[in-house]
Amino acid sequence: MYFISLITKLLHFLPGEVSHHIGLKSLKILYATGLLKFLISDNKTSSDKTIKDLGNLKNKIGIAAGLDKNGDYIDSLAALGIAFIELGTVTPMAQKGNPKPRLFRNRKDQSLLNRLGFNNKGVDYLVRKLKERKSSIIVGTSIGKNFNTPNQSAYKDYVYCLNKVYKYSDYIAVNISSPNTKNLRDLSNINHFTLLLNRLKLKQTELAKLHGYKPIFIKISPDEELDNLKEICELIIENKLDGIICGNTTIDHDHNKGLGGLSGAPLKEKAISVLRFVKSVVGDKLTIIASGGVMTLSDYNERLLVGADLVQIYTGFIYEGPKLIQDILKHSSD
Ligand SMILES: Cc1cc2nc3c(=O)[nH]c(=O)nc-3n(C[C@H](O)[C@H](O)[C@H](O)COP(=O)(O)O)c2cc1C
Repeated sequence: MYFISLITKLLHFLPGEVSHHIGLKSLKILYATGLLKFLISDNKTSSDKTIKDLGNLKNKIGIAAGLDKNGDYIDSLAALGIAFIELGTVTPMAQKGNPKPRLFRNRKDQSLLNRLGFNNKGVDYLVRKLKERKSSIIVGTSIGKNFNTPNQSAYKDYVYCLNKVYKYSDYIAVNISSPNTKNLRDLSNINHFTLLLNRLKLKQTELAKLHGYKPIFIKISPDEELDNLKEICELIIENKLDGIICGNTTIDHDHNKGLGGLSGAPLKEKAISVLRFVKSVVGDKLTIIASGGVMTLSDYNERLLVGADLVQIYTGFIYEGPKLIQDILKHSSD
């Protein structure tokens, strides 16, 4: 573990996106050569594939969407002992995302600023990777819309992706909260949102008859007004979808690198207060996945105390590497 922690720290001296790729490629090499299992001690195995209710997983820690956007690292990430991985966000067609540089690290405040803009290889590529995976880890697939698709017809992109990934995923995450695709967050406005939920439910019901029931989660923005957030939660329940991921990165910052979504330690308080509010509205009617500012074991424990069923990490993993997962698996109070 010491060796991996050292590599993680050294990677911080490289530019954001470069270090991201080198880190994941190195992990894949360690996994492929069999070295990973010697370097990571005492990792508990991940859950059975038969589990439908995500609240019943053996442990409650997963990797958030955006780290493995195209499903290139499923088996190596699974070997770290986490219970689940959320892949994507994928869109119907491959797209390059926003111009670089678009990912910035601030080691002092343990944050990341990103404006990637759904760079991904397209849903067909991801489906190929899902079919190739060897690990039986629970996999969620996060789906989105292409940059050029107007919001009026955005639901078609989501339904298209849902149809493609459904059979090969254990759950589906609907990303309407990335701040880096123009106007995407407007999809939480009542008209777009009702249409989207309705079409997703219809498709889910149809696909469930063929491939079994797979839960659909909506990933929300932490920047929603409380009234809106309440309405969003109620609509998810009304439309009989399954869960909520709270939440994505925040645009509530004045970062010197400009626009983008901020994640990591500075997001913590906001993420917790959104989680607390959502729990007070939905109770036990929806499964809640917490995401945002989970940087330590105590952050993880706190999210479960506040009401999350499962917890995701992203920026904490970038700063701490597999050590954060090991800490949580060994010492968590759940
Ligand atoms: C570089 C980067 C890329 C991301 N890409 C996605 C994405 O494609 N889809 C998504 O739903 N969330 C994405 N996110 C948001 C994360 O999944 C997570 O919700 C957010 O970073 C808050 O968690 P954290 O503070 O633990 O990082 C991304 C975050 C980062 C930092």
